[in-house]
Amino acid sequence: MTEPVKPGLDGPDFSAYKIAGLYAVLGGLWITFSDRLLWALVKDQAWVNSLQTYKGWFYVAVTAVLLYFLIRTALARIKRLEEARRATELKFLQAQKMELVGRLASGVAHDFNNVLTAIMGLAQITMRSMDEADTRRADLEDIINFSGHAAALTSQLLAFSRKQFFQPRPLDLNAQIKTSEKMLRRAAGEAVGIEFQLAGDLWKVMADPSQVDQVLLNLAVNARDAMPQGGKLSIKAANLEVGKSLHADGEELPPGEYVMLTARDTGCGMDQATMARAFEPFFTTKELGKGTGLGLSVVHGIVEQAGGRITMESKPAEGTVFRICLPRYSGPEPAPAPAAPRELPAGGKETVLLVDDQPEILMVMRRIAESQGYTVLGAGSYEEALARAASAGRIDLLVTDILLTGKSGVDLADRLLERQPGLKALFISGQAADPGVYDRVAAKNRPFLPKPFTAEALLAKVRQALDAPAA
Ligand SMILES: Nc1ncnc2c1ncn2[C@@H]1O[C@H](COP(=O)(O)OP(=O)(O)OP(=O)(O)O)[C@@H](O)[C@H]1O
Ligand SMILES: [Mg+2]
Repeated sequence: MTEPVKPGLDGPDFSAYKIAGLYAVLGGLWITFSDRLLWALVKDQAWVNSLQTYKGWFYVAVTAVLLYFLIRTALARIKRLEEARRATELKFLQAQKMELVGRLASGVAHDFNNVLTAIMGLAQITMRSMDEADTRRADLEDIINFSGHAAALTSQLLAFSRKQFFQPRPLDLNAQIKTSEKMLRRAAGEAVGIEFQLAGDLWKVMADPSQVDQVLLNLAVNARDAMPQGGKLSIKAANLEVGKSLHADGEELPPGEYVMLTARDTGCGMDQATMARAFEPFFTTKELGKGTGLGLSVVHGIVEQAGGRITMESKPAEGTVFRICLPRYSGPEPAPAPAAPRELPAGGKETVLLVDDQPEILMVMRRIAESQGYTVLGAGSYEEALARAASAGRIDLLVTDILLTGKSGVDLADRLLERQPGLKALFISGQAADPGVYDRVAAKNRPFLPKPFTAEALLAKVRQALDAPAA
């Protein structure tokens, strides 16, 4: 949960003691010396008398003017404080709401991923067992494709709730945008022309490529919806150096080096009320069935997760600009990952221990692995897995869900590794309940497979894990 931030206030800080003290000293000096000054300057007694009356008025006038300014600044200050407090409160409430919806969404997505994995896996095994000429293959292919659409939706939900397992790496946004160009043009539709302005020698950022795609895609789809009669969308990437903290939309951008991604459309724009809620999950102005209202909240979640900031600017009937600033990555380049094998992954004769507390997933994984010749042991829980491992002979690979009702698959792997040094492990999961657990997988560079997965993906990862040199 985000802590409410203490609002920083600009403007001078008038200390009441200082002002009162200064006033007393100046007033005392005035009373003591003004008469002497008057006598020194004016010799005529009548003149002195009338000037003395004005002197009193002068004193009152100066005090009144001073009081006026003091009270005015004090009131403005109180008002500013109050506004800042209210803004913080609103932000806090908003964060709380996001957190709640996020938890709900990720819970649903987790269960959904399990079901999808089972559906896709079964459809693929069945399809493989069919004759090439079988006409029912097309139906199965459709089932797999539709499951793929559903998987894309759950990945939106998980990205929004920031519980998606993401694999950031140093990324050249130019290259990423270029590889997604086709997809973006298709998403924006024929009526919308996309113009790319990509600065040369762009800095790298640390981000997950598929999340960057998701951000670009959501912005492009929104731009298309905002320009039903057609228009222009320009996507720009440029380096940005921030000297002093920047403030925009109440978001602060600390000094540093950033890569700024700008998406500008010439669409219908947004009024103040829409802008205020645009990033809210499930907020949509689109008719039923056209929008889920998740697009921008997903974008927001991804940008925050990458340590960046997003702001928007919009005018009804003129257009909208989204600006995303991602911190520059200037660390070392990791070695490129070996390319994924193109042909159908080979099977093997090794013994694999599969652990998942979802019976349907366990069943599907078992069938996939067995169909390729592996000897499979299955376990539905942490304890069962330990018992299985104890009674079994040699195990070549452990494939386990990271979350095993109350226990951790990573702990299981470590425990089994103590018994059988050199044991290899592959982790699977549909959601990151505890980011720390994921760090333990990511930090050691352990093989990981996000749910939902296809039979091919599982087989490829299993083979890859088995063939990797022992840690
Ligand atoms: N480029 C844009 N121009 C005008 N309005 C926009 C733009 N992008 C977003 N909006 C407004 O913000 C709302 C929320 O956007 P968001 O992407 O979160 O949801 P959606 O597009 O309605 O649904 P979804 O993206 O889930 O299909 C939109 O309904 C729309 O009113
Ligand atoms: Mg959208």
